[in-house]
Parts: sequence; structure tokens; C-alpha cells
Amino acid sequence: MANPKLLKAIKAKNDEWITMWPDIAAELPNYKDQLKGKRILCPCDWDASYNEKFFYLKGKIKKKLSSTNCNFLKFLISHAEDYKIKSITASGYDPKKKKGTKFEDIDYSKYDLIITNPPFSIFEEFINTLVKNKKNFLVIGPTFALSYKNIIAHFLKKKISIGYAKQLSGFVSRSGKTFMANTPEGSNARACLWYTNLKLDYSRRNLILTESYSNKKYQKFYNFNGINVDKVKNIPYNFKGIMGVPITFLRKFNPYQFELLGTGVQAKKTKRWSGDKAMLWTEKNGKPDKAPFERLLIKNKKI
Ligand SMILES: C[S@@+](CC[C@H](N)C(=O)[O-])C[C@H]1O[C@@H](n2cnc3c(N)ncnc32)[C@H](O)[C@@H]1O
Repeated sequence: MANPKLLKAIKAKNDEWITMWPDIAAELPNYKDQLKGKRILCPCDWDASYNEKFFYLKGKIKKKLSSTNCNFLKFLISHAEDYKIKSITASGYDPKKKKGTKFEDIDYSKYDLIITNPPFSIFEEFINTLVKNKKNFLVIGPTFALSYKNIIAHFLKKKISIGYAKQLSGFVSRSGKTFMANTPEGSNARACLWYTNLKLDYSRRNLILTESYSNKKYQKFYNFNGINVDKVKNIPYNFKGIMGVPITFLRKFNPYQFELLGTGVQAKKTKRWSGDKAMLWTEKNGKPDKAPFERLLIKNKKI
């Protein structure tokens, strides 16, 4: 799941990936009704000229659109009246010059909804801050953050979901270079998703299951009462019990279709297997066989 280029960018703290207008224009309108009356903050949009400034307040544009390169601000301000947004504020921090307002230091009581593309290197910390402050959010993050312990925990507590876009169409660097997802250089955009706690229309996310269960096709777990499913597309449509699926399942998770029960690691609590308790093991001929990569435990609600 991990994308080497994105991991390299994170290691080098190369966090300057500017979101493109088409990605914002494709995702934000889905939540139009939930933006009504909201005080919106874009907290990771560093620009020395406008740190923590209102761009829009109660029907009035306070700062000219031409003063920003940020497509979040451009989109929100141009739709503010139609969406009946209360206010739009931008802020950010430049780690190199140590200037601006860190997202950690923001007084979140002044805002209702956070919309941004935070630095990938501090994504987990950023989400934790928003959840702790009980804020609504719609933010871009790397797909592999799905495997972060805290991020999974938010999913299990129903505090976070994945937005509608399957991936982003591209990013622009600070120097203006474009990295389109459909080119070899665009792997960062291909490996990013929207994370949100806004309401989603799950009728648009029904995973179509085509595989039928048989005990020949699917291994049981040795140390847990359930079966292992190696690929999301192989989730059988007719298995009633618990299934251990890859973490990428969260991208397609529909809470009306499936119940999210926990992670593979939690299965160690069954204490049925005295070997490596941190893992689920598949079974072959009555013996432990393989320990698949981290699993999510799910149940089909519709059967
Ligand atoms: C991935 S860029 C996104 C830029 C812009 N919001 C966009 O997508 O159009 C992340 C931005 O967050 C800023 N930043 C870095 N550390 C931060 C922090 N602790 N708090 C707030 N902003 C930070 C960086 O300077 C950078 O401009």
C-alpha cells in the first residue's frame, strides 16, 4: 500500500503539494448542505501575507482572491454565497522560517469545519487534533495513513470516513510544476484520498460482491473464528461470519453494508493461539500457516 515516492517526501518533510482545483471542485459540492452557516478554516495554507485572516465573512469578501494561490480558498470564496458559508479563514505555518500559526496552536472554538491538505508528515497528529477538538473536517491524506494505529481507531469509533474521490487527479509543487496522477510522476496524487467526518451518501458506495464462499477458496484463521480474504474484491457475498480483510477495505466501507468489528491485532485477545499473539494466522491442515498483513475484521450486515 505504501507509495515509495510519498514515503520519501514524508521523510524529507517535503510537504508542499498544492491541491488542484478539479479535485476540490469534484469533492466539495457533495457536502454543499453541510457547509451552510459554517465558519470554515483552512489551517495549512502557509502564505506570509495572510496568516490567520478572514477571506470572507457574512456575505463580504474581505481579501481579494488574487492574493492567494490556494485553490481551497478560491473555490470556497467563489461558492460562499451559493453555499451560504458564514466565514472562511486561512492560516498556516512555514516550518523552514518558523513563521505563522501551527495547526496545533489554533483556537478551534472559532471554527466549525476544517478543510485543507495538511502536511503528510504530520497527518496523524493533525487528525487527532481535529477529533480531540470535535471539529468537522474534510481533508486530504495519504492512503497508507489507513494503516496508522490512531487512524484505524477513529474508523472503529465511527469518527472518520473516506470521501468520494477514488484518488486525486494531481498536485502542483510550490515552484508550479504539475504532477498529474495519470503520469509516472503522479504517484503522490494516486496515493491520496479525502478523509472526513461529514455525512456521506452511502447509497453511492455499495461494494458489489461477486465471489461465492467455499472452504476450498478461503482459509480459516487458526487463532480466530473467521476467514481470511486476501483482496477486497474477493469478499464473498454469502459468508455470514467474521472476515479478515486488507485495510484498504476502508476506502470502500459502507456501514449499511458491513459491520466493522476490529483489527487483526485485536484478535489476540481471544488467547486461542499462544504463538505470535499480535497476528492472525491462517490455518492449513490443522496448523498455523501464514500471518497475513494487518487485517480488519468485518461482517456482512445484509445476510
Ligand atoms: C501539503 S501543503 C498544502 C498547501 C495548500 N493548503 C493546498 O493544498 O493548496 C501543506 C502546508 O502546510 C504548511 N504547514 C506545515 N506545517 C504546518 C503546521 N504545523 N501547521 C499548519 N500548517 C503547516 C506547509 O507550509 C504547507 O504549505
